[in-house]
Amino acid sequence: MIRIAPSLLSADFARLGDEVRDAVAGGADLMHFDVMDNHYVPNLTVGPLVCQAVRPHCAVPIDVHLMVKPVDRIVPEFAKAGASIISFHPEASDHIDRTLALIRDSGCKAGLVFNPATPLAYLDHVMDKVDLILVMSVNPGFGGQAFIPSALDKIREARRRINQSGRDIWLEVDGGVNASNAGAIVAAGADTLVAGSAVFGEKDRAAAIRRLRESLAKA
Ligand code: DX5
Ligand code: ZN
Repeated sequence: MIRIAPSLLSADFARLGDEVRDAVAGGADLMHFDVMDNHYVPNLTVGPLVCQAVRPHCAVPIDVHLMVKPVDRIVPEFAKAGASIISFHPEASDHIDRTLALIRDSGCKAGLVFNPATPLAYLDHVMDKVDLILVMSVNPGFGGQAFIPSALDKIREARRRINQSGRDIWLEVDGGVNASNAGAIVAAGADTLVAGSAVFGEKDRAAAIRRLRESLAKA
């Protein structure tokens, strides 16, 4: 089963509760929550307060993607605010192993995020501490960017590492995912697709999610 995680980044921020309910009713498996700090990435979005406000409207797990530096200080805040998964960029943490443990100790699943130029070698010594690998197929900071094709090789390499580990680690892809490339992304080994503009950029979210799933069935 492939999980679809609509990214709230492309939702209407003036009515986030309705937006979340709309996407969940339309078949979202997770709610992707992009946290940007105008420091690690050149954009500023939302924090734990908004996560907490959205939580009662969200019948699926909240998948928090931290694009912040430093990381550790904000982790317990998001756990308290109702996050189920918390992922961070290894470059943004001075002590990756410690941050992974902190996330798990807070009761959440822990994810590592790989920018287009970030090597998967960061996984070498922490495979047993990771619940999710997030491969970025754009440079983080903005929705609506074009998918970077070299991500496909990286997804294959991440899938190889996961299979070799024998562990149930999710492989998520984020950036420029749509109905025309989702099939290739899943064929490369992804099991979880983030879609911002391809879902919240469309008027009918249920139809947008259906189109994504149908594209997978055809691929
Ligand atoms: C980008 C974010 C993505 C973004 C994806 O930094 O991490 O989650 O919302 O948006 P689309 O699907 O429009 O590329
Ligand atoms: Zn994201």
